[in-house]
Amino acid sequence: MTDAPEGNAPTEIEEPVPAARRREPTSTVGRGKAVTRTEAPATDRWTDGRTTIALADSLSQYESWETPGCIVSDGAYGVLGFEGDTSDHTGMPEWYEPHVAAWSRRATAQTVLWFWNSEIGWASVHPVLERHGWRYVNANIWDKGLGHIAGNVNTAKIRRFPVVSEVCVQYVFEPRINGKLLKHWLLEEWKRTGLPVREANRACGVADAAVRKYLDQGHLWYWMPPEKFQMMADYANEHGRPEGRPYFSQDGVAPMTGSDWALTRSPFNCPHGVTNVWQRPALRGDERIKANGTSGKAVHLNQKPLDLMHRIVSASTAPGSVVWEPFGGLFTASVAARRLGLRSFAAEIDPTYFHYGLERITQEACQDHLL
Ligand SMILES: C[S@@+](CC[C@H](N)C(=O)[O-])C[C@H]1O[C@@H](n2cnc3c(N)ncnc32)[C@H](O)[C@@H]1O
Repeated sequence: MTDAPEGNAPTEIEEPVPAARRREPTSTVGRGKAVTRTEAPATDRWTDGRTTIALADSLSQYESWETPGCIVSDGAYGVLGFEGDTSDHTGMPEWYEPHVAAWSRRATAQTVLWFWNSEIGWASVHPVLERHGWRYVNANIWDKGLGHIAGNVNTAKIRRFPVVSEVCVQYVFEPRINGKLLKHWLLEEWKRTGLPVREANRACGVADAAVRKYLDQGHLWYWMPPEKFQMMADYANEHGRPEGRPYFSQDGVAPMTGSDWALTRSPFNCPHGVTNVWQRPALRGDERIKANGTSGKAVHLNQKPLDLMHRIVSASTAPGSVVWEPFGGLFTASVAARRLGLRSFAAEIDPTYFHYGLERITQEACQDHLL
């Protein structure tokens, strides 16, 4: 989470780095804030219709944001990394609980969540996510490489391998129809028709995939292609017991179509050659937003690489998707969304970070105008 800051004389007030932390300059232990502004930001809300950012607790914002297609969470790490972060992972489930509950209230089957954290931080919050309906898909490892520790770690003292990674874990919001998991609902609907289960193969025009995959109730269950869903629903409504119609209907009035079914799965596009290990050095040089142009102090020690944010947002969105960034910092995910032509909603609770994040976003908007 925390990367070594760069830059020289700050023009703003610098907060002293506690000596205990100074001794471990290359670990992932949070070092607090490098810069604090005394003036209030020019505004506490900014929008141009594409990007909306607020100086606020995101908990107070969720209800006003549009339905999310993609949520990028980069909040507490349990390392006192920012004001309000917990001091270790044990406090994290409680810290995240109200956020996760709010995300679940607004998520749909199209919503993908990217949960950035340390390994132990993620492990401690995973049960909260599952309890609120988020289904684990994949853990991606950001490998910052040996350069991140620069050989400076006393392993005899810390008694572990030096940490150069973070995780970015992909979840989807578990889709349900009439309160049931898709695989349960599909089989129940088919059974309601009174037709033998094996006849589903004929309905879908497949040798045995309907029985072995689409209607399987275990780990072999396979999300069916929309055209197969359409065939199954058409067949059921034509040949099923008349008194039970409509079959495969969400509203009890009309059967779902293949296009309706397509919305029960979130978008995902994997660029060629990308795996779940992302070898990418920690931010350095001009990548970091500085308090006073390039000569200043790095503003936010937890600023994420724009290319990684771009990777996750582009992989999990479709044209028109809305991106949420509840723990904005310098709004890196919002910049990525913006460059992808997507709308986003973000909040940052700290006025200093918000000020610099606002500058970053308005510069992006200016460039769009120039183009
Ligand atoms: C890990 S940093 C995010 C860095 C960001 N991804 C970036 O690239 O700049 C977490 C940020 O969340 C902010 N934060 C913490 N709790 C918040 C809340 N309830 N609402 C809004 N922002 C919050 C912190 O002030 C901190 O700047």
